[in-house]
Formats: sequence, C-alpha cells, structure tokens
Amino acid sequence: MTAVLSASELKRLNTRTIALVGLMGVGKSTVGRRLASRLGMKFCDADDEIEEAAGMSVSDIFATLGEAAFRDGEARVMRRLLEGRPIVLATGGGAMLNPDTRAHLKRHAVTIWLKADLSIVARRVAKRDTRPLLRGKDPAEILKGLAEARYPIYAEADLVVETGGGAHAEAVEAIIKALTEHQAETGA
Ligand code: S3P
Repeated sequence: MTAVLSASELKRLNTRTIALVGLMGVGKSTVGRRLASRLGMKFCDADDEIEEAAGMSVSDIFATLGEAAFRDGEARVMRRLLEGRPIVLATGGGAMLNPDTRAHLKRHAVTIWLKADLSIVARRVAKRDTRPLLRGKDPAEILKGLAEARYPIYAEADLVVETGGGAHAEAVEAIIKALTEHQAETGA
C-alpha cells in the first residue's frame, strides 16, 4: 500500500541524503529513482556520474584503466555527491568498501542496505552484460563471493530493507516506512 506522507514528514525525510547500498542487481538505481520522485528529491546514480566524469562507460574504465582507477574515480565522485545538497543516491556495489567513502556516508547520509535473495539478484544481473566483475564468469558464484566479503560492510548501514522478488514499488514503500520509523526513533 502506498503511504501518504504529510508535508512535515516529507520535509523531514528529504533534508538528508539517502544512500542506497548493496550488491549489484539488487535494484538500487530503479528503486532509488522511484524513491526520489516520491520524496521530491533529486536522484543520482554514482555509476552514471563516474561515466560522465570519465567520458567513458564503467566497462571501458575497467578494461582500459583498470579497477583501481575506477575505484579512485568512484571515491572522488562519492565525496562530491555526499558533500552536495541532499539527494537520493544509488551507490555502486563496491563503493562502501572504501573507508573514506564509508566515513563520508556516515557523516552526510542515511544509508540503506537493499538486500535480496542471491538467486533473485543472479536472475536480475543475467539480463545485462554491463558489469565487468561478472563478464565471462558464473554470476551466481561471483555474487556468492561478493556477498561473503561485503555483507559485513553493508551491515554498517543505518537501515536494512529486504526487497524480495516483488515489484520495485513495494521496496520503495518499505524504505519510506523504515526511514520514517528511524527518524521517529533517532530524530535524525
Ligand atoms: C560494482 C558494481 C557496479 C559498478 C561496477 C563495480 C561492484 O555498480 O560500480 O561494475 O564492485 O559491485 P552497481 O552495483 O550499480 O551494479
């Protein structure tokens, strides 16, 4: 069900950047875009911003400059976005691994770990061939390894929202509910 937000609730929700973290394929960009429009906030996708700054695609950055160069660019873009005005921010799946980025997220954003069953994520990522970490590999195996390495880091997020295999609209409502409750508890 779509929650109706009062003007004051909306005002409180959109005073701080809302950063979606979690594995690739979990729906950060699609859910983030819908969440932003629900809250009347600007949406930014960190991968798109990196591509714009570099003038090439994420795949090409990995292929020609290497992953380390991508990670440097990612950290710079994350810092710039987090120091700007409040937005809904879809982060790349590896962004939170950088300690400086984590510190910036803690300082400037409320972070939400979007989490879905790995089998759902594997099915979603199979639809696109744009992720260099998966190219030519078994997505289920790679995702399992990424989950093992990264879940303890994603777990530092302020909130966790399980998305399941349902419609993205459901995830948006679950996020709004979690954010509203979090604000009521913390006043943040
Ligand atoms: C990556 C996730 C991608 C992109 C890059 C690396 C990762 O972003 O930043 O391919 O390390 O998990 P999405 O999570 O938006 O797919």
